[in-house]
Amino acid sequence: MTNSKNNPKTETVFITGASSGLGQQMAIEFARRGYQLALTARRLENLEQLKAKLEAEYQTAVLIRALDVTEFDDVKAALEEARQHFGSLDKIIANAGIGYSQRIGKLSFEKVKATIDTNVLGCMATIDAAVSLFKAQGFGHIIAVSSVAGYRGLPGGGAYGASKAAVSHYVEALRAELYFKPIDVTLLCPGYIDTPINQAARSRPFCIPVEKGGRLLVDLIERKVKRSTVPRWPWALVVRLLAWLPVALIARMA
Ligand SMILES: NC(=O)c1ccc[n+]([C@@H]2O[C@H](COP(=O)([O-])OP(=O)(O)OC[C@H]3O[C@@H](n4cnc5c(N)ncnc54)[C@H](OP(=O)(O)O)[C@@H]3O)[C@@H](O)[C@H]2O)c1
Repeated sequence: MTNSKNNPKTETVFITGASSGLGQQMAIEFARRGYQLALTARRLENLEQLKAKLEAEYQTAVLIRALDVTEFDDVKAALEEARQHFGSLDKIIANAGIGYSQRIGKLSFEKVKATIDTNVLGCMATIDAAVSLFKAQGFGHIIAVSSVAGYRGLPGGGAYGASKAAVSHYVEALRAELYFKPIDVTLLCPGYIDTPINQAARSRPFCIPVEKGGRLLVDLIERKVKRSTVPRWPWALVVRLLAWLPVALIARMA
């Protein structure tokens, strides 16, 4: 078995939700930097196109597989298949997510449940499987894509914000549990980055292009930062201010 930890040029990254937006852009950025990739999502046709592009432009090895992260047992199987294919995995990114903007009571409960199933349980299933795999392997780096929305519940973002708060708490617990183990943990909390998840939003403050977002995310992952908003500024300040804003002001702004 090849231990790719010894050769950074052949490190392998596993990504959920790689068919669009940030997952796709991180895949492009990692390929550009010489990584091998295991890419998953439900839309296999998108992954096929991405694989063809990455192999042609960057001559990198790309494994693709259809994966719905709400099929919790299949998440573990997908990770194990990728490990067997490449010999080992270096980074596993729990990125798949959905988001609906609608007030509580107006958003159908079906969508509330889908948000929790995908963003919380799908992410937890990915992280749980990654922990088992990395403990057996003896090294690894777990990355979770949460959101600035997880810092405070805001009107229109109840289910989404709750799902991201749950992810952030889970990852902080994980960080403490793995403190004495050779496994790194990174929690990334993007602000608005221009992808399909938010393209219908009425307002997207401080929104940045997806290419820049992908670059920033991969920079932070390579530096193995513990936790960061993305971009760091102004969001590191905004999330702190948000915590202090009186609810009356938030209600008026909404
Ligand atoms: N863009 C932003 O401003 C922003 C800000 C904060 C956080 N985030 C987070 O960043 C992550 C990526 O979002 P994005 O902005 O790239 O949105 P996006 O373009 O809509 O991409 C979402 C990705 O998640 C995948 N996905 C959704 N449900 C899935 C499921 N059940 N199983 C497997 N994959 C699933 C989608 O693939 P398939 O549909 O093919 O399965 C797609 O690849 C999400 O966790 C999101 O909450 C984004």
